[in-house]
Amino acid sequence: MKFFIDTANLADIREAQEMGILDGVTTNPSLMAKEGITGKDNVMRHYKQICEIVEGDVSAEVISIKYEEMIKEGEELAELDENIVVKIPMTAEGVKAIKYFSEKGIRTNCTLIFSAGQALVAAKAGASYVSPFVGRLDDISTDGMALIEQIVTIFTNYGYTTEVLAASVRHPMHIIQCAEIGADVMTAPLSAIKALLNHPLTDSGLAKFLADHEKANLPVKQ
Ligand code: E4P
Repeated sequence: MKFFIDTANLADIREAQEMGILDGVTTNPSLMAKEGITGKDNVMRHYKQICEIVEGDVSAEVISIKYEEMIKEGEELAELDENIVVKIPMTAEGVKAIKYFSEKGIRTNCTLIFSAGQALVAAKAGASYVSPFVGRLDDISTDGMALIEQIVTIFTNYGYTTEVLAASVRHPMHIIQCAEIGADVMTAPLSAIKALLNHPLTDSGLAKFLADHEKANLPVKQ
């Protein structure tokens, strides 16, 4: 399973990249706003900076909701770097844009997926990725992980090459469940990725190893 980081924070992206386990980045307008990135030039410069840090795919979301404007904005984003994937919302206009980009060889990530039907339509239109939002479904007492499972089954049934990118992943158990189900990719904040490393028995085991080593290596009294 590929690990993407869900942030526009350059320090977090750098830290994940330095861990050696980062396969890509996803952003959205809220994450860009959180970092105070405003105005087209700054937004474009920020995406360039992200692409310089990470070797994998970087999802850059369009702000436009009209087909013609999505095409213009998406083409400009795609020109920034070969690793840019144009993120398009799941709307009728968005699906048309995904079809257009897929015919032009521009890769897309269809975002705001909350049902298997939406994922199926995006795959038929030629999306490179679909992003079902696990955490936001869990937030409304709906099983987000069941949706990942359903989409993986449907794509496997028909051999769709569209990758299932589990989004809105909030904690380490979400990540493990995505891997068990067979999601192609998951995107999560750095904190959730780093939480995978933690286990109290690792901490106590390491402390004991070091203490035993120190005891055995005390200087011998003459
Ligand atoms: C996906 O690409 C979205 O940017 C993201 O995962 C949404 O996560 P949230 O529900 O935690 O905001």
